[in-house]
Amino acid sequence: MIELAGIADMRAWSRAARAAGRRLGFVPTMGALHEGHLQLVDRARMAADTIVMSVFVNPLQFAPGEDLDRYPRDLPRDRALAARRGVDCLFVPTASAMYDPHASVRVTPGALADHLCGPHRPGHFVGVLTVVAKLFHIVEPDVAVFGRKDIQQARLIARMAADLGFAVDVVVAPTAREPDGLARSSRNTYLTPAERRQAASIPAGLRDAHARFLAGERDAAALTGGLQQTLRAAGLAVEYVELVDADRLQPLATATADAVLALAARAGRTRLIDNIVLGDGFAADLVAQA
Ligand code: PAJ
Repeated sequence: MIELAGIADMRAWSRAARAAGRRLGFVPTMGALHEGHLQLVDRARMAADTIVMSVFVNPLQFAPGEDLDRYPRDLPRDRALAARRGVDCLFVPTASAMYDPHASVRVTPGALADHLCGPHRPGHFVGVLTVVAKLFHIVEPDVAVFGRKDIQQARLIARMAADLGFAVDVVVAPTAREPDGLARSSRNTYLTPAERRQAASIPAGLRDAHARFLAGERDAAALTGGLQQTLRAAGLAVEYVELVDADRLQPLATATADAVLALAARAGRTRLIDNIVLGDGFAADLVAQA
């Protein structure tokens, strides 16, 4: 595995690979790698023969007061995990290389950011879209893979690629989960043992909503209300629980099998998000064997 930090070096490497006839797959991350990230590498490998992974904790997508300073960083460990999983090139740019002090042009999300995380994290998706657009221009991948755990982010990036004419296929991969169903996340490392027990109510509540849907419940308020209650009873501070359509991410009054049930909640200071496609539950996800 080669490791590059310079933008010009990355672009030259990428262009040489493509000139040699290779199809480039790209997995952007903020590091603190876990099995969820690594399964994106496996998914990229199915669609490409050379894999680039980026590790960049993007300051532009953190609001003041969020966890930019304490976000977990462990490049030696990330390097070892990426190499073992078959990443060909690890791109690790510095913030000063990515952001000129005079930079002013940004990518804004539009209506897809009106619900779910958008209203709760002002400026977040501008930061995400701007950095992903820039990474796409630097790496010039044929295919890029994102996780469904961050479903709003994945939808927005697919939308951006279509709206702005990026020549990249955006693929969305299933959510990797821990044995009890909790979605894997770099932020899970913040959880105390007591908070980790509270967080287990997230997969439990999603499973329950799935079961109620299968039993015939179609009222969105009943499904979201039930989930909210489960999370609150476990001691989580609920930010939102919403049922939205998979395509435009707008709220639904009546549940359908392809609707997305999504939530954000805090365990202590740690913000956790998750979602399921209501008719699927965890069926499409990757749950580790205990
Ligand atoms: P990060 O949180 O590091 O996630 C990188 C990629 O891994 C994203 O596509 C995310 O959806 C995916 N991912 C995280 N947890 C996952 C899980 N449990 N199962 C499957 N996929 C999972 O998301 C970002 O970084 C940033 O916003 C980024 C896109 C890199 C832009 O800065």
